[in-house]
Amino acid sequence: MKNNSFILEEFVNNAFNLKLHLMEYLSIKECDLDGFLANAKINLANLHPGDALSDVSDFYTEIVGDRHLADLAAWHITSKDYIADTLKLQQRFSRDIVLDFGGGIGTHALANAMSSKVEHVFFVDINETNRNFVEYRAKELGVEKKLTFCKTIKDSQISKFDTIICLDVLEHLANPASQIEIFNEIMDSNSIALFNWYFYKGEKNEYPFHIDDEQIVEKFFKTLQSIFIEVFHPILITTRAYKKIR
Ligand SMILES: C[S@@+](CC[C@H](N)C(=O)[O-])C[C@H]1O[C@@H](n2cnc3c(N)ncnc32)[C@H](O)[C@@H]1O
Repeated sequence: MKNNSFILEEFVNNAFNLKLHLMEYLSIKECDLDGFLANAKINLANLHPGDALSDVSDFYTEIVGDRHLADLAAWHITSKDYIADTLKLQQRFSRDIVLDFGGGIGTHALANAMSSKVEHVFFVDINETNRNFVEYRAKELGVEKKLTFCKTIKDSQISKFDTIICLDVLEHLANPASQIEIFNEIMDSNSIALFNWYFYKGEKNEYPFHIDDEQIVEKFFKTLQSIFIEVFHPILITTRAYKKIR
């Protein structure tokens, strides 16, 4: 097991070998990698069918394929200080049985798996390519025994989690309020959940897949305040820690 500062350093240095993993997993040549990453954000936005999409989750199961890997990788590499702060935050709270819901390219799940405070990480993501890519990364990094990959929380067959990580996911869900109610049911009084959200499609519709409906967002905040109480931390103001009210 590695200590916290070593894990952070490894992320800042090479995002846990992310570029190498992308090249190997997607068979991309080194000379093509930078172009692949540079165009990722706009390519993902262009894939979104707008109002024609009847079920929000179809975007992640049927449409994005491996394009979300590129978008998330580009983001984690270009915003590494921000991502490093989210890792610092989870180092403060993560312990024992961890759920990483909507785990993407696996940065948080892999870092948690490297931590001696964490017994096991359940990586849940609706996108099969993401699950397979992170499983591949876990083997490359030698932490595969501490990770289980699932499409849904139910597939994990775990009824209580000590830590829940749900970062940059809630705005991708049709009903974020019902998702945090589900989290509430699988936490006990000592569990901590880390959430952030960005209910905004962007100035130029860069994030057409984000939910920004006023009623949905209001229901989310009312639910959040009715079931959780915030636990203060001084690390990152955009990402909040919560425990159950009762
Ligand atoms: C913007 S990414 C965030 C990834 C990661 N948490 C991070 O901070 O880099 C959103 C992720 O949520 C996943 N996702 C979307 N809807 C989901 C759902 N209903 N259940 C599980 N995962 C979902 C997507 O496949 C994607 O990997």
